[in-house]
Amino acid sequence: WDEQFLPPPLQLDDKALAIKVDYRLSGLMLCGSTLRHVGEIFLREIENGLAERASSLQMENTYIPELPDGTEEGVFLALDLGGTNFRVLLLELQAGQLVREDVKQYHISDALRLGPGEDLFNFLADCVLDFLQSEGMEDDELSLGFTFSFPMRHHSISSGELITWTKSFKCGGMSGVNVAGLLQRCLRARGLRVTVQVLLNDTTGTLVAGAQADPDVAIGVILGTGSNGCYMERAERVHWEGPHKRARDVCVDVEWGAFGDNGCLDFIRTEFDKEVDDNSLLATSFTFEKYIGGKYLGELLSAVLGGLARDGLFPAPPARASLLSAHVSQFEEENISGAWERTAEALHDACGAPVGRTDALIAQHVARVISNRAAQLVSVCIATLLRRMSRPHVAVAVDGSVFKRHPRIRSLMDKYIALLAPHHRFTLKGAEDGSGKGSALTAAIAARLAARSP
Ligand code: GLC
Repeated sequence: WDEQFLPPPLQLDDKALAIKVDYRLSGLMLCGSTLRHVGEIFLREIENGLAERASSLQMENTYIPELPDGTEEGVFLALDLGGTNFRVLLLELQAGQLVREDVKQYHISDALRLGPGEDLFNFLADCVLDFLQSEGMEDDELSLGFTFSFPMRHHSISSGELITWTKSFKCGGMSGVNVAGLLQRCLRARGLRVTVQVLLNDTTGTLVAGAQADPDVAIGVILGTGSNGCYMERAERVHWEGPHKRARDVCVDVEWGAFGDNGCLDFIRTEFDKEVDDNSLLATSFTFEKYIGGKYLGELLSAVLGGLARDGLFPAPPARASLLSAHVSQFEEENISGAWERTAEALHDACGAPVGRTDALIAQHVARVISNRAAQLVSVCIATLLRRMSRPHVAVAVDGSVFKRHPRIRSLMDKYIALLAPHHRFTLKGAEDGSGKGSALTAAIAARLAARSP
Protein backbone atom coordinates (compact mmCIF):
# COMPACT_ATOMS: atom_id res chain seq x y z
CA TRP A 1 0.00 0.00 0.00
CA ASP A 2 2.78 2.36 1.00
CA GLU A 3 4.53 2.03 -2.34
CA GLN A 4 1.59 3.55 -4.18
CA PHE A 5 2.56 6.86 -2.60
CA LEU A 6 6.19 6.97 -3.67
CA PRO A 7 7.23 8.63 -6.92
CA PRO A 8 9.13 6.26 -9.24
CA PRO A 9 12.88 6.12 -8.52
CA LEU A 10 15.23 8.25 -10.60
CA GLN A 11 16.43 6.39 -13.71
CA LEU A 12 19.91 7.32 -14.93
CA ASP A 13 22.61 5.47 -16.84
CA ASP A 14 24.80 6.16 -13.83
CA LYS A 15 22.93 4.03 -11.28
CA ALA A 16 25.14 5.01 -8.36
CA LEU A 17 24.43 8.70 -9.01
CA ALA A 18 20.67 8.04 -9.19
CA ILE A 19 20.76 6.27 -5.82
CA LYS A 20 22.73 9.12 -4.24
CA VAL A 21 20.24 11.73 -5.52
CA ASP A 22 17.21 9.75 -4.34
CA TYR A 23 18.82 9.29 -0.96
CA ARG A 24 19.26 13.07 -0.72
CA LEU A 25 15.57 13.57 -1.62
CA SER A 26 14.18 10.91 0.71
CA GLY A 27 12.88 13.46 3.26
CA LEU A 28 10.54 14.80 0.57
CA MET A 29 9.01 11.39 -0.11
CA LEU A 30 6.11 10.66 2.22
CA CYS A 31 4.81 7.16 2.60
CA GLY A 32 1.18 6.17 3.16
CA SER A 33 1.44 5.75 6.91
CA THR A 34 3.06 9.17 7.34
CA LEU A 35 0.26 10.72 5.28
CA ARG A 36 -2.38 8.93 7.30
CA HIS A 37 -0.72 10.28 10.43
CA VAL A 38 -0.78 13.80 8.93
CA GLY A 39 -4.51 13.27 8.28
CA GLU A 40 -5.11 12.29 11.91
CA ILE A 41 -3.32 15.41 13.11
CA PHE A 42 -5.28 17.52 10.62
CA LEU A 43 -8.56 16.15 12.01
CA ARG A 44 -7.45 16.86 15.57
CA GLU A 45 -6.51 20.41 14.60
CA ILE A 46 -9.90 20.85 12.86
CA GLU A 47 -11.73 19.79 15.99
CA ASN A 48 -9.59 21.97 18.25
CA GLY A 49 -10.06 24.94 15.93
CA LEU A 50 -13.86 24.54 15.82
CA ALA A 51 -14.00 24.24 19.60
CA GLU A 52 -11.84 27.38 19.91
CA ARG A 53 -9.07 25.43 21.61
CA ALA A 54 -5.43 26.00 20.64
CA SER A 55 -4.97 24.91 17.01
CA SER A 56 -2.94 25.91 13.98
CA LEU A 57 -6.20 25.85 11.96
CA GLN A 58 -8.43 28.80 12.21
CA MET A 59 -11.67 27.11 11.14
CA GLU A 60 -13.31 30.46 10.54
CA ASN A 61 -17.06 30.83 10.34
CA THR A 62 -17.76 32.70 7.09
CA TYR A 63 -21.41 33.24 8.07
CA ILE A 64 -22.49 31.86 4.70
CA PRO A 65 -25.25 29.45 5.68
CA GLU A 66 -26.64 28.61 2.28
CA LEU A 67 -25.55 28.10 -1.28
CA PRO A 68 -27.07 29.39 -4.54
CA ASP A 69 -30.63 28.25 -5.21
CA GLY A 70 -31.05 29.73 -8.68
CA THR A 71 -32.90 32.88 -7.56
CA GLU A 72 -29.80 35.12 -7.51
CA GLU A 73 -30.47 38.26 -9.54
CA GLY A 74 -28.95 41.68 -10.05
CA VAL A 75 -25.86 43.66 -10.92
CA PHE A 76 -22.92 43.42 -8.52
CA LEU A 77 -19.43 44.73 -8.18
CA ALA A 78 -16.73 42.32 -7.07
CA LEU A 79 -13.19 43.01 -5.89
CA ASP A 80 -10.56 40.29 -5.93
CA LEU A 81 -7.46 40.88 -3.83
CA GLY A 82 -4.91 38.28 -2.82
CA GLY A 83 -3.14 36.76 -5.80
CA THR A 84 -0.91 38.31 -8.40
CA ASN A 85 -3.28 40.98 -9.67
CA PHE A 86 -6.08 43.03 -8.21
CA ARG A 87 -9.31 42.82 -10.20
CA VAL A 88 -12.50 44.85 -10.26
CA LEU A 89 -15.47 43.13 -11.84
CA LEU A 90 -19.02 44.07 -12.76
CA LEU A 91 -21.28 41.04 -12.92
CA GLU A 92 -24.89 40.56 -13.78
CA LEU A 93 -26.82 37.53 -12.56
CA GLN A 94 -30.14 36.28 -13.87
CA ALA A 95 -31.70 33.26 -12.20
CA GLY A 96 -28.31 32.42 -10.69
CA GLN A 97 -26.57 32.47 -14.08
CA LEU A 98 -23.86 34.91 -15.02
CA VAL A 99 -25.05 36.89 -18.05
CA ARG A 100 -22.49 39.69 -18.09
CA GLU A 101 -18.98 40.16 -16.75
CA ASP A 102 -16.74 43.19 -17.26
CA VAL A 103 -13.28 42.92 -15.70
CA LYS A 104 -10.35 45.26 -15.26
CA GLN A 105 -7.03 44.25 -13.73
CA TYR A 106 -4.82 46.60 -11.75
CA HIS A 107 -1.19 46.12 -10.82
CA ILE A 108 -0.35 46.41 -7.13
CA SER A 109 3.13 47.84 -6.71
CA ASP A 110 5.59 46.55 -4.11
CA ALA A 111 5.24 49.86 -2.28
CA LEU A 112 1.50 49.22 -1.86
CA ARG A 113 1.89 45.55 -0.94
CA LEU A 114 4.46 46.32 1.71
CA GLY A 115 3.49 49.86 2.82
CA PRO A 116 0.77 51.22 5.13
CA GLY A 117 -2.58 49.42 4.85
CA GLU A 118 -4.46 52.72 4.45
CA ASP A 119 -2.56 53.41 1.24
CA LEU A 120 -3.49 50.01 -0.15
CA PHE A 121 -7.19 50.48 0.63
CA ASN A 122 -7.21 54.00 -0.79
CA PHE A 123 -5.70 52.55 -3.95
CA LEU A 124 -8.40 49.84 -4.10
CA ALA A 125 -11.09 52.53 -3.85
CA ASP A 126 -9.34 54.57 -6.57
CA CYS A 127 -9.46 51.53 -8.82
CA VAL A 128 -13.19 51.08 -8.16
CA LEU A 129 -13.74 54.75 -9.05
CA ASP A 130 -11.67 54.38 -12.23
CA PHE A 131 -13.54 51.21 -13.19
CA LEU A 132 -16.99 52.72 -12.58
CA GLN A 133 -16.05 55.84 -14.53
CA SER A 134 -14.99 53.70 -17.47
CA GLU A 135 -18.38 51.93 -17.25
CA GLY A 136 -20.22 55.27 -16.88
CA MET A 137 -21.65 54.02 -13.57
CA GLU A 138 -19.96 56.21 -10.97
CA ASP A 139 -23.31 57.55 -9.70
CA ASP A 140 -25.05 54.17 -9.49
CA GLU A 141 -26.05 52.47 -6.27
CA LEU A 142 -24.34 49.08 -6.21
CA SER A 143 -23.68 46.14 -3.90
CA LEU A 144 -20.14 44.86 -3.70
CA GLY A 145 -18.63 41.49 -2.83
CA PHE A 146 -15.07 41.81 -1.54
CA THR A 147 -12.96 38.69 -2.08
CA PHE A 148 -10.14 39.25 0.35
CA SER A 149 -8.01 36.11 0.22
CA PHE A 150 -6.33 36.29 3.60
CA PRO A 151 -7.16 34.84 7.00
CA MET A 152 -9.88 36.82 8.74
CA ARG A 153 -11.84 36.82 11.96
CA HIS A 154 -15.41 37.26 10.73
CA HIS A 155 -18.12 38.91 12.80
CA SER A 156 -20.77 38.56 10.14
CA ILE A 157 -21.09 37.80 6.44
CA SER A 158 -20.02 41.38 5.68
CA SER A 159 -17.36 42.17 8.26
CA GLY A 160 -14.10 40.75 9.46
CA GLU A 161 -10.65 41.62 10.70
CA LEU A 162 -7.42 40.63 9.08
CA ILE A 163 -5.53 38.14 11.23
CA THR A 164 -2.24 38.08 9.37
CA TRP A 165 -1.03 38.81 5.87
CA THR A 166 0.11 35.88 3.76
CA LYS A 167 1.71 35.29 0.32
CA SER A 168 3.15 38.57 -1.07
CA PHE A 169 1.39 41.13 1.15
CA LYS A 170 2.71 42.68 4.33
CA CYS A 171 1.06 46.08 4.89
CA GLY A 172 1.51 47.85 8.19
CA GLY A 173 -1.14 49.00 10.65
CA MET A 174 -3.78 46.47 9.66
CA SER A 175 -3.98 43.94 12.41
CA GLY A 176 -7.43 43.96 14.01
CA VAL A 177 -8.80 46.38 11.38
CA ASN A 178 -12.23 45.56 9.90
CA VAL A 179 -11.23 45.36 6.25
CA ALA A 180 -14.79 45.72 4.93
CA GLY A 181 -15.31 48.82 7.09
CA LEU A 182 -12.06 50.35 5.90
CA LEU A 183 -12.92 49.68 2.27
CA GLN A 184 -16.40 51.15 2.81
CA ARG A 185 -14.92 54.36 4.25
CA CYS A 186 -12.51 54.72 1.34
CA LEU A 187 -15.36 54.21 -1.17
CA ARG A 188 -17.58 56.77 0.59
CA ALA A 189 -14.71 59.26 0.68
CA ARG A 190 -14.77 59.15 -3.13
CA GLY A 191 -18.49 59.84 -3.22
CA LEU A 192 -19.31 56.32 -4.43
CA ARG A 193 -22.71 54.83 -3.59
CA VAL A 194 -21.31 51.34 -3.27
CA THR A 195 -22.13 49.12 -0.28
CA VAL A 196 -19.83 46.30 0.81
CA GLN A 197 -22.44 43.56 1.06
CA VAL A 198 -20.20 40.61 1.66
CA LEU A 199 -16.62 39.90 2.66
CA LEU A 200 -15.32 36.52 1.61
CA ASN A 201 -12.30 34.36 0.98
CA ASP A 202 -11.37 33.01 -2.47
CA THR A 203 -12.04 29.42 -1.35
CA THR A 204 -15.54 30.44 -0.28
CA GLY A 205 -16.16 32.14 -3.62
CA THR A 206 -14.96 28.97 -5.35
CA LEU A 207 -17.32 26.78 -3.31
CA VAL A 208 -20.29 29.09 -3.94
CA ALA A 209 -19.57 29.41 -7.68
CA GLY A 210 -19.06 25.64 -7.91
CA ALA A 211 -22.30 24.92 -6.04
CA GLN A 212 -24.22 27.07 -8.50
CA ALA A 213 -23.22 24.69 -11.29
CA ASP A 214 -23.39 21.47 -9.26
CA PRO A 215 -25.36 21.08 -6.01
CA ASP A 216 -22.99 18.30 -4.86
CA VAL A 217 -20.19 20.87 -4.42
CA ALA A 218 -19.52 21.18 -0.69
CA ILE A 219 -15.75 21.81 -0.60
CA GLY A 220 -13.88 24.72 -2.21
CA VAL A 221 -10.13 24.55 -2.73
CA ILE A 222 -7.52 27.00 -4.00
CA LEU A 223 -4.31 25.60 -5.40
CA GLY A 224 -2.68 28.74 -6.73
CA THR A 225 -0.20 31.27 -5.35
CA GLY A 226 -1.28 29.96 -1.94
CA SER A 227 -3.40 27.00 -0.89
CA ASN A 228 -6.48 26.73 1.28
CA GLY A 229 -9.87 25.10 1.52
CA CYS A 230 -13.36 25.59 2.91
CA TYR A 231 -16.28 23.22 3.37
CA MET A 232 -19.84 23.01 4.61
CA GLU A 233 -19.77 22.13 8.32
CA ARG A 234 -22.72 21.48 10.58
CA ALA A 235 -23.66 24.87 12.04
CA GLU A 236 -24.07 23.51 15.57
CA ARG A 237 -20.33 22.74 15.64
CA VAL A 238 -19.32 26.30 14.74
CA HIS A 239 -18.87 29.36 16.93
CA TRP A 240 -21.49 31.91 15.89
CA GLU A 241 -22.20 35.56 16.75
CA GLY A 242 -25.59 37.08 15.88
CA PRO A 243 -28.51 35.90 13.68
CA HIS A 244 -29.06 32.92 11.29
CA LYS A 245 -27.68 30.54 13.87
CA ARG A 246 -30.41 28.10 13.08
CA ALA A 247 -28.94 27.30 9.70
CA ARG A 248 -28.17 23.59 9.29
CA ASP A 249 -24.76 24.05 7.70
CA VAL A 250 -22.32 26.87 7.32
CA CYS A 251 -19.22 27.39 5.23
CA VAL A 252 -16.02 27.21 7.28
CA ASP A 253 -12.71 28.59 6.01
CA VAL A 254 -10.06 26.15 7.23
CA GLU A 255 -6.96 28.28 6.43
CA TRP A 256 -4.90 25.13 6.02
CA GLY A 257 -1.91 27.14 4.84
CA ALA A 258 -1.12 27.59 8.53
CA PHE A 259 -1.45 23.87 9.34
CA GLY A 260 1.45 22.89 11.59
CA ASP A 261 2.58 26.42 12.45
CA ASN A 262 2.30 25.29 16.09
CA GLY A 263 4.97 22.62 15.49
CA CYS A 264 2.64 19.62 15.12
CA LEU A 265 3.95 18.85 11.62
CA ASP A 266 7.65 19.48 12.16
CA PHE A 267 8.36 15.80 11.45
CA ILE A 268 7.75 16.29 7.71
CA ARG A 269 9.83 19.46 7.45
CA THR A 270 13.08 19.13 5.49
CA GLU A 271 16.16 21.35 5.38
CA PHE A 272 14.89 22.56 1.96
CA ASP A 273 11.57 23.66 3.47
CA LYS A 274 13.43 25.52 6.17
CA GLU A 275 15.45 27.35 3.53
CA VAL A 276 12.32 28.35 1.57
CA ASP A 277 10.68 29.56 4.78
CA ASP A 278 13.76 31.48 5.97
CA ASN A 279 13.90 33.34 2.63
CA SER A 280 10.18 34.13 2.52
CA LEU A 281 8.49 37.45 3.21
CA LEU A 282 6.65 36.04 6.24
CA ALA A 283 8.99 33.47 7.80
CA THR A 284 7.62 30.85 10.26
CA SER A 285 4.07 31.67 9.16
CA PHE A 286 1.86 29.60 6.82
CA THR A 287 4.56 26.95 6.54
CA PHE A 288 2.21 24.25 5.15
CA GLU A 289 1.30 26.56 2.27
CA LYS A 290 5.01 26.70 1.46
CA TYR A 291 4.92 22.95 0.65
CA ILE A 292 2.10 23.42 -1.86
CA GLY A 293 1.53 26.95 -3.14
CA GLY A 294 2.70 28.14 -6.54
CA LYS A 295 4.48 31.04 -4.90
CA TYR A 296 6.88 28.57 -3.32
CA LEU A 297 7.27 25.51 -5.58
CA GLY A 298 9.91 27.18 -7.75
CA GLU A 299 11.87 28.21 -4.68
CA LEU A 300 11.65 24.71 -3.32
CA LEU A 301 13.00 23.35 -6.60
CA SER A 302 15.87 25.86 -6.32
CA ALA A 303 16.58 24.96 -2.71
CA VAL A 304 16.76 21.24 -3.53
CA LEU A 305 18.97 21.74 -6.60
CA GLY A 306 21.17 24.03 -4.49
CA GLY A 307 21.50 21.24 -1.91
CA LEU A 308 22.42 18.73 -4.61
CA ALA A 309 24.97 21.19 -6.02
CA ARG A 310 26.59 21.54 -2.59
CA ASP A 311 26.98 17.76 -2.52
CA GLY A 312 28.51 17.68 -6.01
CA LEU A 313 25.42 16.02 -7.50
CA PHE A 314 24.34 18.97 -9.68
CA PRO A 315 26.49 21.49 -11.67
CA ALA A 316 25.68 24.73 -9.76
CA PRO A 317 22.99 26.20 -7.49
CA PRO A 318 20.26 28.20 -9.28
CA ALA A 319 20.33 31.96 -8.65
CA ARG A 320 17.74 33.30 -6.16
CA ALA A 321 14.25 33.60 -7.66
CA SER A 322 15.41 32.23 -11.01
CA LEU A 323 13.06 29.23 -10.91
CA LEU A 324 9.29 29.64 -10.65
CA SER A 325 6.43 27.21 -10.25
CA ALA A 326 5.96 27.56 -14.04
CA HIS A 327 9.35 25.81 -14.35
CA VAL A 328 8.14 22.98 -12.14
CA SER A 329 5.19 22.52 -14.54
CA GLN A 330 7.46 22.82 -17.57
CA PHE A 331 9.95 20.23 -16.26
CA GLU A 332 7.07 17.89 -15.47
CA GLU A 333 5.70 18.32 -18.98
CA GLU A 334 9.03 17.47 -20.58
CA ASN A 335 9.43 14.54 -18.24
CA ILE A 336 6.05 13.21 -19.37
CA SER A 337 7.00 13.54 -23.02
CA GLY A 338 10.45 12.00 -22.44
CA ALA A 339 12.43 15.09 -23.53
CA TRP A 340 15.04 17.13 -21.63
CA GLU A 341 16.40 19.91 -23.90
CA ARG A 342 14.13 22.74 -22.72
CA THR A 343 14.70 21.78 -19.12
CA ALA A 344 18.45 22.02 -19.69
CA GLU A 345 18.08 25.43 -21.35
CA ALA A 346 16.05 26.86 -18.46
CA LEU A 347 18.54 25.44 -15.95
CA HIS A 348 21.46 26.90 -17.86
CA ASP A 349 19.85 30.35 -17.53
CA ALA A 350 19.06 29.79 -13.84
CA CYS A 351 22.42 28.33 -12.81
CA GLY A 352 24.76 30.14 -15.19
CA ALA A 353 26.59 26.86 -15.85
CA PRO A 354 26.41 24.26 -18.62
CA VAL A 355 23.72 21.68 -17.89
CA GLY A 356 23.77 18.26 -19.55
CA ARG A 357 21.13 15.59 -20.13
CA THR A 358 21.77 13.82 -16.80
CA ASP A 359 21.48 17.10 -14.88
CA ALA A 360 18.23 17.94 -16.67
CA LEU A 361 16.82 14.52 -15.80
CA ILE A 362 17.80 15.05 -12.17
CA ALA A 363 16.00 18.42 -12.11
CA GLN A 364 12.91 16.87 -13.70
CA HIS A 365 12.97 14.21 -11.03
CA VAL A 366 13.19 16.84 -8.29
CA ALA A 367 10.20 18.64 -9.86
CA ARG A 368 8.32 15.36 -9.81
CA VAL A 369 9.16 14.64 -6.18
CA ILE A 370 8.11 18.06 -4.91
CA SER A 371 4.94 18.03 -7.04
CA ASN A 372 4.10 14.60 -5.72
CA ARG A 373 4.45 15.80 -2.14
CA ALA A 374 2.34 18.92 -2.81
CA ALA A 375 -0.40 16.74 -4.32
CA GLN A 376 -0.22 14.35 -1.37
CA LEU A 377 -0.50 17.07 1.25
CA VAL A 378 -3.43 18.83 -0.37
CA SER A 379 -5.05 15.40 -0.85
CA VAL A 380 -4.68 14.58 2.85
CA CYS A 381 -6.66 17.73 3.67
CA ILE A 382 -9.40 17.00 1.14
CA ALA A 383 -9.61 13.31 2.11
CA THR A 384 -9.91 14.25 5.79
CA LEU A 385 -12.76 16.65 5.01
CA LEU A 386 -14.53 13.99 2.91
CA ARG A 387 -14.29 11.50 5.76
CA ARG A 388 -15.57 14.05 8.24
CA MET A 389 -18.50 15.18 6.07
CA SER A 390 -19.55 11.65 5.26
CA ARG A 391 -21.95 12.51 2.43
CA PRO A 392 -22.83 10.06 -0.35
CA HIS A 393 -20.93 12.07 -2.94
CA VAL A 394 -19.02 15.35 -2.66
CA ALA A 395 -17.89 17.45 -5.58
CA VAL A 396 -14.80 19.53 -4.78
CA ALA A 397 -14.56 22.84 -6.65
CA VAL A 398 -10.89 23.64 -7.27
CA ASP A 399 -9.39 26.81 -8.68
CA GLY A 400 -5.90 28.30 -8.90
CA SER A 401 -2.94 28.43 -11.25
CA VAL A 402 -1.19 25.30 -9.98
CA PHE A 403 -4.32 23.20 -10.41
CA LYS A 404 -4.92 24.64 -13.87
CA ARG A 405 -1.39 24.56 -15.25
CA HIS A 406 0.51 21.74 -13.60
CA PRO A 407 0.26 18.76 -15.96
CA ARG A 408 0.14 16.05 -13.29
CA ILE A 409 -1.41 17.60 -10.19
CA ARG A 410 -5.03 16.73 -10.89
CA SER A 411 -4.43 13.06 -11.63
CA LEU A 412 -2.16 12.76 -8.59
CA MET A 413 -4.84 14.28 -6.40
CA ASP A 414 -7.48 11.92 -7.81
CA LYS A 415 -5.22 9.01 -6.97
CA TYR A 416 -4.18 10.10 -3.48
CA ILE A 417 -7.61 11.23 -2.32
CA ALA A 418 -9.04 7.87 -3.41
CA LEU A 419 -6.29 6.07 -1.48
CA LEU A 420 -6.75 8.18 1.64
CA ALA A 421 -10.56 8.23 1.68
CA PRO A 422 -11.32 4.88 0.04
CA HIS A 423 -14.99 4.69 1.01
CA HIS A 424 -15.94 8.19 -0.04
CA ARG A 425 -17.15 9.17 -3.49
CA PHE A 426 -15.82 12.48 -4.76
CA THR A 427 -15.22 14.42 -7.97
CA LEU A 428 -12.67 17.17 -8.47
CA LYS A 429 -14.16 19.95 -10.58
CA GLY A 430 -12.16 22.77 -12.07
CA ALA A 431 -13.96 25.95 -10.99
CA GLU A 432 -13.87 29.13 -13.01
CA ASP A 433 -13.52 32.47 -11.33
CA GLY A 434 -14.80 31.83 -7.84
CA SER A 435 -13.41 35.20 -6.80
CA GLY A 436 -15.59 37.04 -9.34
CA LYS A 437 -18.72 35.02 -9.96
CA GLY A 438 -18.64 33.46 -6.49
CA SER A 439 -18.38 36.90 -4.97
CA ALA A 440 -21.44 38.19 -6.86
CA LEU A 441 -23.45 35.07 -6.02
CA THR A 442 -22.50 35.42 -2.35
CA ALA A 443 -23.51 39.09 -2.38
CA ALA A 444 -26.89 37.99 -3.75
CA ILE A 445 -27.18 35.36 -1.01
CA ALA A 446 -26.29 37.99 1.61
CA ALA A 447 -29.00 40.30 0.22
CA ARG A 448 -31.49 37.42 0.41
CA LEU A 449 -30.54 36.71 4.06
CA ALA A 450 -30.79 40.40 4.96
CA ALA A 451 -34.26 40.65 3.39
CA ARG A 452 -35.37 37.64 5.43
CA SER A 453 -34.03 38.75 8.83
CA PRO A 454 -36.38 40.69 11.13
C1 GLC B 1 -3.60 32.07 1.75
C2 GLC B 1 -4.67 32.87 2.47
C3 GLC B 1 -6.03 32.22 2.30
C4 GLC B 1 -6.31 32.00 0.84
C5 GLC B 1 -5.18 31.20 0.18
C6 GLC B 1 -5.38 31.00 -1.31
O1 GLC B 1 -3.49 30.84 2.36
O2 GLC B 1 -4.36 32.97 3.84
O3 GLC B 1 -7.03 33.01 2.89
O4 GLC B 1 -7.53 31.32 0.68
O5 GLC B 1 -3.95 31.88 0.38
O6 GLC B 1 -5.41 32.21 -2.00
